[in-house]
Amino acid sequence: MDERMKILITGGSGFIGSNFVHYLLDKYPDERLVVLDKLTYAGKLENLKDVMDKIIFIKGDICNAQDIAKAGKCDIIFNFAAETHVDRSIKSADVFVKTDVLGTYNLLEFARKNDIRRYIQISTDEVYGSTVKDSFHEDDLLDPSSPYSASKAGADLLVGAFFKTYNLPVLITRSSNNFGPYQYPEKLIPVLILKALHDKALPIYGNGLNVRDWIYVKDNCAGIDYVFRKGKTGEIYNIGAGNEKTNIEIANQILMELKISKNLIKYVKDRPGHDFRYSLNCEKIKNLGWSPQYKFEDALRYTVKWYTENDWWWKSIIFDNNDIFN
Ligand SMILES: NC(=O)c1ccc[n+]([C@@H]2O[C@H](COP(=O)([O-])OP(=O)(O)OC[C@H]3O[C@@H](n4cnc5c(N)ncnc54)[C@H](O)[C@@H]3O)[C@@H](O)[C@H]2O)c1
Repeated sequence: MDERMKILITGGSGFIGSNFVHYLLDKYPDERLVVLDKLTYAGKLENLKDVMDKIIFIKGDICNAQDIAKAGKCDIIFNFAAETHVDRSIKSADVFVKTDVLGTYNLLEFARKNDIRRYIQISTDEVYGSTVKDSFHEDDLLDPSSPYSASKAGADLLVGAFFKTYNLPVLITRSSNNFGPYQYPEKLIPVLILKALHDKALPIYGNGLNVRDWIYVKDNCAGIDYVFRKGKTGEIYNIGAGNEKTNIEIANQILMELKISKNLIKYVKDRPGHDFRYSLNCEKIKNLGWSPQYKFEDALRYTVKWYTENDWWWKSIIFDNNDIFN
């Protein structure tokens, strides 16, 4: 019998999920990884192309319990699968409620029936809503603003209920805004990099002063792994690196990295319900022994370099999706 741990990673072809698969394979080459992903517009097999021979890949939908069952008996589940783009959720929330809430419910039921050893829900700082000057703690009230963050908050509550009702060994991570390789170019940092590379205007919502707390994706992956191995079941852990930046600062830094002196910044009409500032208190995960390893400026420089050098990855996305460049 194979004694190695079998780990199911849902949404493992997306941005953070694929970085996490790479992280686990580098750090624990002996573990068996099963990736289950619907391959929506945001999921790309190319994100895993260098490790396909080391994992089992299942094309499947977490909204469908029969697809999840194809993974067979697993020890651990990390749920990264979600619809994730706030602007899309404002246009049409239906698929967000289905995937982020119903999909999570299906996974929890699967976990419960299969005596899973640990279930880790990947959540977001957006569930807390916005704050002008404080930093959110894990036990603060949830006050989501968008259909996306409300769906993620609903999923978090279900995960908590499965702990209380069925004693399912769950953990929740809530990270701040991630950036790094393989992020779909509809999110702020890759949009700005690719627009700048194509000499197009860099769209900035409102007055550009909204603040996000940025974390390099590899630091988040290490944090998620820490929570899985050292966290206490039933608990929630914030994961942030304390890099609070306004959107305009991010745009200027990208232009500086690319040595583009021309000011391409263009202010556009603000998003409805746009949260002003996200900020996390991360003492709890730091007490487990985790701390971020990457300096923001170095990680942003590396990310700009990655997009500049990997046009094979984004060219087909731009070709298939004119919205990104209109
Ligand atoms: N990107 C961030 O800054 C950020 C910050 C905090 C939390 N998160 C959370 O981290 C997780 C991953 O985010 P991401 O940025 O990598 O997202 P992403 O949009 O890049 O990837 C999502 C992945 O989930 C898959 N997927 C979507 N619906 C599915 C379904 N019904 N069944 C199976 N697979 C499905 C997609 O194909 C894709 O591979 C999400 O749960 C998100 O809420 C993201």
